[in-house]
Amino acid sequence: MASSVATCFLLLLATAVALTALVSAWRRPVRVTVYVQEYLGNGTKTTEKVLVRGPGPVNPSLYEPNNLFGDTLVMDDIVTASPDNTSAPIGRVYGTYMVSSMSRPVYVVSFTLLLTTGRYNGSTIVMGGIDDSSAVLEHAVIGGTGALRGAQGHVVGKVVKKYSSPTHVVMELDVYASVPVSWTQAEEAPASPLIVDH
Ligand SMILES: *[C@@H]1O[C@H](CO)[C@@H](O)[C@H](O)[C@H]1NC(C)=O
Ligand SMILES: *[C@@H]1O[C@H](CO)[C@@H](O)[C@H](O)[C@H]1NC(C)=O
Ligand SMILES: *[C@@H]1O[C@H](CO)[C@@H](O)[C@H](O)[C@H]1NC(C)=O
Repeated sequence: MASSVATCFLLLLATAVALTALVSAWRRPVRVTVYVQEYLGNGTKTTEKVLVRGPGPVNPSLYEPNNLFGDTLVMDDIVTASPDNTSAPIGRVYGTYMVSSMSRPVYVVSFTLLLTTGRYNGSTIVMGGIDDSSAVLEHAVIGGTGALRGAQGHVVGKVVKKYSSPTHVVMELDVYASVPVSWTQAEEAPASPLIVDH
């Protein structure tokens, strides 16, 4: 008797675990590739500016003028569909980054990608983490808004050297995320060719 109660309990538990797994699996993958045009320096096009000068000390792994511990920059970068900066703008990246190591080239970054075209027009992806000057940077996708509400995943960033110069950095951002499936949005607009949904 005791063992059949135990078996019954185990079966119920297994069913509950399976149902939980099924419900949490109701997520739709979202893949977005965009290019961020970062204009540095003091020109009229500049999209990143020093917000606050940190208290220091000087971080010996960084170059002037942004080499003090705590130096913080604010960005309003242009986002394009291809690495070439003459291609049509499809969004912005808004955020900040701050020198957060006293010795290593480490910044803490927080940025939000706003898409302004296609299926995700008006939606955002919120990202953050550290940037330690690795060739390939990975940040967490913390969330999203609009059609990307509840986004989770990661984003890989790499500098596109061919299109970059000391005052103009082109960064490829590859977002690998998923969003909860919404059963209330029966029909959605067709995806833009930039955005591949599986
Ligand atoms: C921009 O101008 C400021 C003030 O003139 C100067 O301190 C800074 O070094 C300049 N930055 C760059 C990247 O040229
Ligand atoms: C594109 O980038 C180049 C090199 O940085 C720059 O000279 C040019 O003005 C930029 N064009 C646009 C449309 O921003
Ligand atoms: C994106 O949405 C805004 C606000 O609804 C609208 O004004 C704009 O025309 C849309 N852009 C495109 C390319 O669909």
